[in-house]
Amino acid sequence: MDNRPIGIFDSGLGGLTALKELRRLLPNESFVYFGDTGRVPYGARSPQTLRRFARENIRFLQHYDVKMIVAACGTISSILSEDPAWDPTFPFTGVLRPAAEAACRATRCGRIGVIGTSATIRSGSYERIIRQIMPNVQVFSRACPLFVPLVENGYLEEQNPVTELVARDYLSGLAAERPDTLILGCTHYPLIAPAIRRVMGDGVTLIDPGKETAAAVQAMLSARGICADGSQTSDTRYFASADTEDFGTIAARFLGEPLESAVELVEVDALSRE
Ligand code: DGL
Repeated sequence: MDNRPIGIFDSGLGGLTALKELRRLLPNESFVYFGDTGRVPYGARSPQTLRRFARENIRFLQHYDVKMIVAACGTISSILSEDPAWDPTFPFTGVLRPAAEAACRATRCGRIGVIGTSATIRSGSYERIIRQIMPNVQVFSRACPLFVPLVENGYLEEQNPVTELVARDYLSGLAAERPDTLILGCTHYPLIAPAIRRVMGDGVTLIDPGKETAAAVQAMLSARGICADGSQTSDTRYFASADTEDFGTIAARFLGEPLESAVELVEVDALSRE
């Protein structure tokens, strides 16, 4: 048993898709969430910069004595999975493998679509891991760089015309390839899933990486015997590196309940100094 919190990070709001599911699956656990809103979007950054952000975010969360770290970010997960030197000495998961495994379970015709940030698609990470799991599958990939700024700026309501237009522009070609399963390879994308679904069609199974990763975290905690024992009240602390108030407002809307505490500010400069 281990009552220490679980640390989760993303470039912004996207990792809340993992947090929401984690809080539902693991009500005894506490969490420390860090949204790096001062440096979002990550998707246009170089692998070298993204590796540094990953190191800094992990170090920041480790100050809160977390027992495990979840990179609830497709971009960071992709970059780390392609880095031969990445070999964490603490319990860790990204979103890549849980999402890829779920897609391979879901596909019936062996045609899987993957959408993600430019850095994720450029890395080829999802494609590689899908082929390891299911060698004969066909993978169709598309970068959707405008989706993250749309989500971070709150373009989330049903049938928002801007989001609908961008989704149609990015995804019409992918829909024409007729995948039966689509990995929303960036954790921000489930927040605009209705717009994505309208272009892809109802027959396509959408894979939410945050949700799949939450199930993987549950399995990891049990396997290592480090679940919380329920003797302490669980809570969640939120940190962001800019715009804490906006972050709190959108986060509460997405989580469907007020946050237990105000979002705390972490200065970006402090992340690299620590
Ligand atoms: N949620 C991040 C991901 O899963 C967004 C990256 C970005 O900020 O561009 O890739």
